[in-house]
Amino acid sequence: MAKKMLYGGDYNPEQWEESVWEEDMRMFHLAGIDCVTLNVFSWAALQPDEVTYRFERLDKIMDLVRKNNLKVVLATSTAAHPAWMAKKYPEVLRTEFNGMKRKFGSRHNSCPNSPVYQKYSRALAEKLAERYGKYDNIVAWHISNEYGGECYCENCEKAFRVWLKEKYGTIEELNRAWNTSFWGHTFYDWDEIVAPNLQSEHFAENRTTFQGISLDYRRFNSDSMLNNYRAEYEAVKAVTPHIPVTTNLMGFYKPLDYQKWAKYLDFASWDNYPDTVDTNAAVAMRHDLIRGLKQGAPFVLMEQTPSVTNWHPYNLLKRPGVMRLLSYQAVAHGADAVMFFQMRRSIGACEKFHGAVIDHVGNENTRVFREISQLGHELEALGGRTLDSRTPSKTAILVDWDNWWALEYSAGPSCELKYMDEVLLYYTALYEKNVPADIISTEDDLSQYSVVITPVLYMTKPGTDEKIRSFVKEGGTFVTTFFSGIVDEHDLVITGGYPGKLRDILGIWVEETDALPSYMKNSFTWNGKTHEAGIICDIMHMETAQPLAVYDSDFYAGTPVLSANTYGKGRAYYVATRSDKDFYADFLQHILDEQNITPIYPPCEGVEITERDKDGKRYLFFLNHNDFPVTLPLQAEGTSLLENRPCQPGTPLHLPPKGVAIYQC
Ligand code: GLA
Ligand code: ZN
Repeated sequence: MAKKMLYGGDYNPEQWEESVWEEDMRMFHLAGIDCVTLNVFSWAALQPDEVTYRFERLDKIMDLVRKNNLKVVLATSTAAHPAWMAKKYPEVLRTEFNGMKRKFGSRHNSCPNSPVYQKYSRALAEKLAERYGKYDNIVAWHISNEYGGECYCENCEKAFRVWLKEKYGTIEELNRAWNTSFWGHTFYDWDEIVAPNLQSEHFAENRTTFQGISLDYRRFNSDSMLNNYRAEYEAVKAVTPHIPVTTNLMGFYKPLDYQKWAKYLDFASWDNYPDTVDTNAAVAMRHDLIRGLKQGAPFVLMEQTPSVTNWHPYNLLKRPGVMRLLSYQAVAHGADAVMFFQMRRSIGACEKFHGAVIDHVGNENTRVFREISQLGHELEALGGRTLDSRTPSKTAILVDWDNWWALEYSAGPSCELKYMDEVLLYYTALYEKNVPADIISTEDDLSQYSVVITPVLYMTKPGTDEKIRSFVKEGGTFVTTFFSGIVDEHDLVITGGYPGKLRDILGIWVEETDALPSYMKNSFTWNGKTHEAGIICDIMHMETAQPLAVYDSDFYAGTPVLSANTYGKGRAYYVATRSDKDFYADFLQHILDEQNITPIYPPCEGVEITERDKDGKRYLFFLNHNDFPVTLPLQAEGTSLLENRPCQPGTPLHLPPKGVAIYQC
């Protein structure tokens, strides 16, 4: 069990002469760095040909870091295959969405269904486990790196047919599920099925003529890479059952169903690279997703840049204090480790201008290094106090990858309807109130929550409606929005009136859905304020529900836009349109008040306040995202952990610009 938060990151000594390594060690110690992620992209070095493995250099590196008391996250190196492999076995190369077969190059370039890739990636993982399993400083296996992308090659096509056979059993059932009687698509043989891409069903990346097959291909592609991960997982576990295994995720990464993947991770980890246009809430929501993947268990911030990226359109430097602030933001949302990419800035290829702990100048006299050292020493002083604590939350937002894929494949109603935009609106409203939210999946237990929100739950998978029904019956508050309950898990419409299986819970019937172009708006008045209605306006009838507000204009003026239904001991709300920020703030306040959910701390603009609990103690995190100082009165007796001093209620808490405080009470 770690006694403090792990601090360090991706270290690539293989890119450097050995004479540099000792200097790296000196600088790591100076900065309080105690953990390095090794061997992320070394396959070509470790395996020069099909039968030879060379571990001597990695042995040296492993010995060096052990001698220097560094912990290791050991990667398996399988995110970029060697050039010889691509030359000898072109099947390891991917085929793109447009049908283009790739040659050797870049990374994350292996076909997940190539038997050659499968064989040698697994073999490498096994060999690494056999060779290094005895090192007691390995804290985790890091399988591959940022799994992602997709492949449309012939091996994938063949594997897709096998996957489909397993799923549907008979070709008749597949024809039913995909509604292939539309446009004469009936299949008589599994071999007639081809991968859905630009050469077949698609006319653009997200535009398909057959949602059924495209949706299944997404599931299949995610499963294919998951199988790669699982094969390596099993290989290392067989040798080192005591070492936890993970792979670094990427927040809301659409191609891979992380909620399904999470079952096979011993702990979740992810790489946080916010863009300059991301709001603080958007970043917080990604952390909460990762925390939710393992039902609230702590996660690892596996990568972030100390200062700058190289791959955003504009690579803004993290201003003084921002690296520290974002590191604590991760911790505030459940991280138990703070890691960087990269330890020493490389000199060639596309990441030579990516920020690093050690810059090209090669010494410790940089702003970035000073900030990293300061944080390193702070984390040492903080010790293990916050480790393994949990975020208490009565509110959950349900997010579902199948729903995401299906909604955004949908031809109509609006090209502007983006799942994560809608999720973020609800999340942001809670975030700005300092009300924690868990991001949960359709498989999670709802009973621990008072409020469950499912923005645009277009697809209701088997069992989901039943789960929501019991939750509301037992007294829960359920909030959903326009364009929900429309289809089943195959993207087949549930007939008999929208919102399908959610209809009785919500007590409404949605007759039509209007999609407004951005230059058209409707409006409504609720609780004395007029709000915008845009993008989608569902036109609905009240069955058992009560209307709370009505549209102001158009041919459906006077019909309900917001409704509440009493169902069992609970309530179910339907928000029939996309509204403005003010509406979400007021409306969610109303819901929170009804359920007696109070914020962790009274809101203060630009100051993020979160809570983690452990052993009856509360840890409050105050993160000042503002460029100006803020002073808040403390509410209870406790200890300011970063300053190590006791505080009384009413003591002013001064947060400098980008400042952080952790307060234990
Ligand atoms: C990703 C990768 C790293 C590195 C960083 C750069 O997160 O995992 O190898 O390329 O991006 O930001
Ligand atoms: Zn392939």
